[in-house]
Amino acid sequence: MGCFGRSEKPSKRSETNKGRNKDTLRNKNTIGCSSITNKRDDQTHPCSDSLKVSPYRDVNNGVGKAEDQLALDAKRLNLNNQATGKKPQTFTFQELAAATGNFSSDCFLGEGGFGKVFKGKLEKLDQVVAIKQLDRNGPQGIREFVVEVLTLSLADHPNLVKLIGFCAEGDQRLLVYEYMPLGSLEDHLHDLPPGQKPLDWNTRMKIAAGAARGLEYLHDRMKPPVIYRDLKCSNILLGEDYQPKLSDFGLAKVGPSGDKTHVSTRVMGTYGYCAPDYAMTGQLTFKSDIYSFGVVLLELITGRKAIDTTKPRKDQNLVGWARPLFKDRRNFPKMVDPQLQGQYPGRGLYQALAISAMCVQEQPSMRPVVSDVVSALNFLASSKYDPTSPSSSSSRRRNTYRDDEEKRRDLSKETESEGNQIKFLASPRQMVDTCMYKNTKQ
Ligand SMILES: Nc1ncnc2c1ncn2[C@@H]1O[C@H](COP(=O)(O)OP(=O)(O)OP(=O)(O)O)[C@@H](O)[C@H]1O
Ligand SMILES: [Mg+2]
Repeated sequence: MGCFGRSEKPSKRSETNKGRNKDTLRNKNTIGCSSITNKRDDQTHPCSDSLKVSPYRDVNNGVGKAEDQLALDAKRLNLNNQATGKKPQTFTFQELAAATGNFSSDCFLGEGGFGKVFKGKLEKLDQVVAIKQLDRNGPQGIREFVVEVLTLSLADHPNLVKLIGFCAEGDQRLLVYEYMPLGSLEDHLHDLPPGQKPLDWNTRMKIAAGAARGLEYLHDRMKPPVIYRDLKCSNILLGEDYQPKLSDFGLAKVGPSGDKTHVSTRVMGTYGYCAPDYAMTGQLTFKSDIYSFGVVLLELITGRKAIDTTKPRKDQNLVGWARPLFKDRRNFPKMVDPQLQGQYPGRGLYQALAISAMCVQEQPSMRPVVSDVVSALNFLASSKYDPTSPSSSSSRRRNTYRDDEEKRRDLSKETESEGNQIKFLASPRQMVDTCMYKNTKQ
């Protein structure tokens, strides 16, 4: 089959072997399909940013029987989608091989911890899809497969990627998703190939707001509520017109129930995105996802990676770099992605940074709940920045600056009278109110 992989960076993952050892803190996943109820089933152990990939080959090797049972469980479970009543379909390996020209390199989209991803066309549905094939020697295993199928079978939201079906035939484990034509947010934010246009400010805010709505669905609307645990730029996929969708739910965990505030679990996630409290204690809360969201928002604003080992040691961790700068708003223009070339609203920048600063606070209780993040970002995304319009809020200032330094000086002058500290940090609610207030006043 003539395939049609994205041409920009088709082999990024395999070139860098990124999926294999990229900053992933994953150990053994603890949600089996029977544990979609909470189970204090695993020990905790501390982790830090220096932790390396933890091998959990025991999930993959020597447990053939258990794996088969999990796969059977997944198949037998009534996976009807709560909202649509649709069931994910089962496919034969042959059907998926045919869809991808026998997993031809032309159809290769990328590779992560689970395995390779291929673009394919399912003739019987007349639909283009993305097919993820579990690498039996990779760091993820059958548990992630089952949890992914379970979570996505129960979910239905425009900001979550749709699972069309799966294949669990013999040793093969494959997942079939709707195809996301623009790839992942990571592909549009970092290491852009020459000629690729960077995302503009409005698109960044649109992506942030959509991703937050996807997270809100998991936290507040799913029954039972789900902690995502793997929020990062490479797991935000982009559809037509940059509509963002969260993907990869293999690490998802049912949230605490009753009076409990956390779920005790082994530490899994990705360096740079993992909340320090969860990393230190293994106590997973909804606020762990909020921290990861704050990191993604910071990446969107600054264009910097969550972890960048090419930077001087003290600046390698994005949050570590940003925290001292948050203290004085005169620093804010220095933080913005230089690829925006000064094309951003000064007040919008302030508000977006204030939201991310709240989300990445060390104390989980000080981080906002997801509904507040959504309210604030919906406002930000709906107040469009137009550098050419004189009526644009940001255009009360000059539209173009010779350089960021000039814009910084201009913004500083305006904000000096308001004080230079982020005022929002008092409470999450205040953050939202302040955003809304400022937006409606503009
Ligand atoms: N539904 C999809 N549509 C289009 N491309 C996809 C889809 N799912 C994944 N991809 C692409 O496949 C590549 C690998 O994705 P994958 O989720 O396996 O790895 P990852 O997110 O980079 O790493 P991790 O295993 O840590 O999640 C990504 O570059 C992504 O752009
Ligand atoms: Mg992924």
